[in-house]
Amino acid sequence: MESQVLGRSALRVSRMAYGCWRLAGSEGGPVPVDGDRTGRRAVHAALDAGYTFFDLADIYGGGECERIFGGALRERPGIRDGLVIASKCGIRLPDVPVGAPHRYDFSREYIVWSVEQSLRRLGIEALDVLILHRPDYLMDPEEVGGVFGRLRASGKVREFGVSNFTCSQVALLQRAWGNPLVTHQVEVSLRNLGALENGLLDQCLMEGMTPTAWSPLGRGVLGTGALDGMEPVQMERVGRVRAVLDELAEREGVGRTEIALAWLLRHPSRMIPVVGSVQPERIVAMTRALDVSMGREDWYRLLVTGRGERLP
Ligand SMILES: NC(=O)c1ccc[n+]([C@@H]2O[C@H](COP(=O)([O-])OP(=O)(O)OC[C@H]3O[C@@H](n4cnc5c(N)ncnc54)[C@H](OP(=O)(O)O)[C@@H]3O)[C@@H](O)[C@H]2O)c1
Repeated sequence: MESQVLGRSALRVSRMAYGCWRLAGSEGGPVPVDGDRTGRRAVHAALDAGYTFFDLADIYGGGECERIFGGALRERPGIRDGLVIASKCGIRLPDVPVGAPHRYDFSREYIVWSVEQSLRRLGIEALDVLILHRPDYLMDPEEVGGVFGRLRASGKVREFGVSNFTCSQVALLQRAWGNPLVTHQVEVSLRNLGALENGLLDQCLMEGMTPTAWSPLGRGVLGTGALDGMEPVQMERVGRVRAVLDELAEREGVGRTEIALAWLLRHPSRMIPVVGSVQPERIVAMTRALDVSMGREDWYRLLVTGRGERLP
């Protein structure tokens, strides 16, 4: 697969990333009856299809996703060095310890502890990228910058990034860390257009950070995911987006999801979609998004359909 540099780092990553959130079952659902098999098969499919950039988090599947990914890696001796492995920390789940609320924690102790647990579950010596998952309202930027420095000096983490931050939170941390933050993972898709308008993608361009797009298919509804549970207005809008995607897909000889991903790939920030299907044939098919060259007219047609109203 085509590759690119990640932010202002020396890391080269595939143009599309594989997201490991669903390796142990979808959205906190039950663990698949076949145990690790679905998850490992998905990782192998991604490796075979040329994805070299993998996105994980300490909390995915309560740690299971890192463990499954680590298991799959061990089945491919020698492959680790060609990969860029990112994991996240900073979200603490409720009731650990008992009675504690769902919360965010960027304290020195918690970040260091979390990275060590991730490395142990993954069975690797260092994370290529550590991403702070959601902004901690009690973040002390100097403290976090200091932890980043120590983690890098100890060889446990190479580069750092953020996710779901505001522009000002990025700027704060960037100044305290004093080195480039290499990526900002944001929710963006034809179902969620906020990042195009709230300055996050502009900031990525300005700072030379590579944005990665989480839930690039709107959690599946831009594919063939069920629309039930949505407000009727949203359902109608997604239906219209799917219809335009299908029309362009037929013309280009690809599938609907490839067009939805090509729309993200077209952004000048060289945004990297983080795909999350666990089905091998879909993981492979989605790489064809890279063969679609999307013109301005098609891009805007999709934008307007996703907005649900014409541009001013
Ligand atoms: N930073 C954050 O806060 C954050 C939050 C959420 C996610 N993420 C990252 O983003 C990654 C992707 O998120 P996501 O899984 O929500 O992405 P997504 O690509 O928007 O959704 C994937 C889901 O869509 C389903 N789907 C339905 N029809 C599909 C089709 N035709 N083709 C492909 N998939 C289809 C998949 O099911 P099948 O598996 O059955 O194909 C899967 O459950 C995660 O793995 C994680 O790494 C980050």
